[in-house]
Amino acid sequence: MRKQIAAANWKMNLSISEAETLLDQLMATDHHIAANQEAIYAVPAIYIPLATQKLAGRQNIYVAAQNCHSKSSGAYTGEISATMYASLGVKHIVLGHSERREYFNESDAFLAEKTDAVLAAASTPIFCCGEPLAIREAGNQNSYVETQLKNSLFHLTAEQITKVVIAYEPIWAIGTGKTASSEQAQEIHAYIRSVFATKYGQAIADQISILYGGSVKAANAKEIFSQPDVDGGLVGGASLIATEFAAIINALK
Ligand code: 13P
Repeated sequence: MRKQIAAANWKMNLSISEAETLLDQLMATDHHIAANQEAIYAVPAIYIPLATQKLAGRQNIYVAAQNCHSKSSGAYTGEISATMYASLGVKHIVLGHSERREYFNESDAFLAEKTDAVLAAASTPIFCCGEPLAIREAGNQNSYVETQLKNSLFHLTAEQITKVVIAYEPIWAIGTGKTASSEQAQEIHAYIRSVFATKYGQAIADQISILYGGSVKAANAKEIFSQPDVDGGLVGGASLIATEFAAIINALK
């Protein structure tokens, strides 16, 4: 069975003391992570040592970065590389979140380089894709997302692509309280899997975890995750509330 993943994306939120409180609450809140499941916490970079220490020794729980640079080292003031994260034991990195694409002009080509950098560090990219509202309203979401995937990931080998986690996040559903319906999520997740099947074969495509993101919360997680091609979620707002995120973990297949 594909890995089922609940990934928290804290974005640029919380003070260090708030982060510590949330991590303590999360660990104290009742949740169960089965052998085929993972809980991943993409915290602000400066809180990674704290999160690593708080989550140490827990099975199938990982601390992640929200971004990295495409080079492994050098004169890139303010940036952090996948190699540097790996040296801290951080082996999951979110790439190409729509907020980074929009506010930091991250292109498909740059994200292809970042993906290579994460894989070169023997780490797992959590690669985000997803369409804006106008594209969805025009019914062009499948081809829009397909282009994002082709441009940034199709240079990878079959072995490499099985190391990538995909996060489909429709931009119109992020932070808006509007989720895709479970039917809409299943439809595009199945399409994304078919795109990989066409390129790499069905057996490879069946190994790729595809997460849904966009206003996932305790109340809707079970319904969305129950869809056959939805392998968990990438969660923003609700991941900042311990009881919510614990319930989202418990909603995994
Ligand atoms: P929300 O869950 O707050 O809608 O954010 C989704 C997201 O962008 C996760 O990366």
